[in-house]
Amino acid sequence: MSPEISPPDPRGIDNNLTHYGDRGFAAYLRRSFTKSMGYTENSLARPTVGIVTSESGFNNCHRQMPELVRAVERGVLLAGGLPVAFPTISLGEPFLYPTSMKFRNLMAMDVEEMIRAQPVDSVVLVGGCDKTVPAQLMGVFSVDKPAVQLVTGPMMTGSYHGERLGACTDCRRFWGWYRAGEVSTEQIAAVEGNLATTSGTCAVMGTASTMACLAEALGVSLPGTAAIPNVHADRLRAGENSGALAVELARTGVPPSAVVTGEAVTNALRVLLAIGGSTNAVIHLTAMARRLGLAVGASELNELSDSTPVLVDLKPSGEHYMEDFHRAGGVPAVIRELGELMNLDCPTVTGRTWREILAETDPWRDDTVVRPLRAPVSAVGGIVSLSGNLAPAGAILKRSAADPRLFESEGRAVVFESLADLAERIDAPDLDVEPGDFLVLKNAGPVAEAMPEAGYIPIPKVLAEQGVKDMVRMSDARMSGTAYGTIVLHIAPEAAVGGPLALVRNGDRIRLSVRDRSLELLVSADELEQRREQWVPPSPAAPERGYSRLYRDHVLQADEGCDFDFCQPVTAEV
Ligand code: FES
Ligand code: MG
Repeated sequence: MSPEISPPDPRGIDNNLTHYGDRGFAAYLRRSFTKSMGYTENSLARPTVGIVTSESGFNNCHRQMPELVRAVERGVLLAGGLPVAFPTISLGEPFLYPTSMKFRNLMAMDVEEMIRAQPVDSVVLVGGCDKTVPAQLMGVFSVDKPAVQLVTGPMMTGSYHGERLGACTDCRRFWGWYRAGEVSTEQIAAVEGNLATTSGTCAVMGTASTMACLAEALGVSLPGTAAIPNVHADRLRAGENSGALAVELARTGVPPSAVVTGEAVTNALRVLLAIGGSTNAVIHLTAMARRLGLAVGASELNELSDSTPVLVDLKPSGEHYMEDFHRAGGVPAVIRELGELMNLDCPTVTGRTWREILAETDPWRDDTVVRPLRAPVSAVGGIVSLSGNLAPAGAILKRSAADPRLFESEGRAVVFESLADLAERIDAPDLDVEPGDFLVLKNAGPVAEAMPEAGYIPIPKVLAEQGVKDMVRMSDARMSGTAYGTIVLHIAPEAAVGGPLALVRNGDRIRLSVRDRSLELLVSADELEQRREQWVPPSPAAPERGYSRLYRDHVLQADEGCDFDFCQPVTAEV
């Protein structure tokens, strides 16, 4: 039994609690309720580390979180702190209707307000699935309370007839073959059972893995932890070490804003490009940075993209999987190879700079997975920002997942007015479409549909059956980080708020130039003006109440990170 080592502090544990009335009484009351949980004075005299958990029966990626949280608790205790875990909402990517993107900001608000409201000295944020890491970091950046991000880590791969499978790039490949009639119903059912065979986040460099790597590059996670598989013992050690670090942070009080500077955001963008990361990360990083009053600009993205080779050979742009990336050296190996392309003197949450961390880290790496600068996967970065009269506030193309033969191309627009229109006509046998056409999807942006991952417009069945594998596709939607193709995304402003995308008609000519970073609708300004006068905004079944109402009324466009306008810092100039 623990000894009662000190008398109750008459000022009590009253951080955050009592800003009105009798402070002594409130502290006494709080101690009394705290004691109902069995804590001793010894426990209560220690720094309180909040562990922000996000497990749910609807979140396969967080299935092993209880064990990971126990490891964090162990780390906190061993370092002399008091761990107190508490839940927030949980966003399991495959299970949320209409799209998890609608709820990222809700989770960010939950995380922010619960950290602000409860008496914690520092926090460990435990999460992994796509929207979770951005939501947790957006929230904690706004509170600016000392914090460590701990990701759940990726799944291991499965296999089918000797071929490795990982969610969810291989899901798409097999589904494409199935749609083209090359894979049978029995085979696709067998593949379905072998794509996602362990707990953890998707096994490729999708959004979850990308955000894990960016958290590490930003300096808010322990170095070397982003790629550790969920089921690996190192993951639990990362948990224990994150708990210990949070105790140190509770004592030093170093806030995220001291780590996440403009240079750190540039580092994160650099790493995003070098890992061939997800397009979604541009939106999330923008939203996260803006919470600290920092900007992520299209011109910076393009400049960095031209001077950053893709070094990591992972699906969907390359060959390998996250477990290989971990074995190959993970994010520190990438940062070491990028060398002076990075701001190595940026501090991290550990108190050490990247330069100091690299000096202490084993320099070995597997250079088939993390390539050397002189032999990269691609000489330039994976993502570019486009602009032009079709995307005045920008658009994104993941060139590393696209067909270079389509980079400089012009095509005839085949327009789908909405998600429903797309679903109804994309497989119609009489769809008027040729392989060189550009597929255009409207009204799938943040305001219209909460920006689902509908940008991965399927190849129309009539073309898929002819063997067409890729064509230029564009929309105001997003695309899964695990998808690939010549796909222009995040067109802003979106069609539903009157962006020029709303004015595109069947048969218009559109020109894409990756070289010039441009996306042009080849229709005269006069004609566009006439069309604008005739344009009738879509009238969606307007949500009249609750969170849907809040979301629709306050969500910002993709170039602003799709955050809520009222969540921006009041003093920011971003
Ligand atoms: Fe959670 Fe892919 S479903 S990371
Ligand atoms: Mg995803």
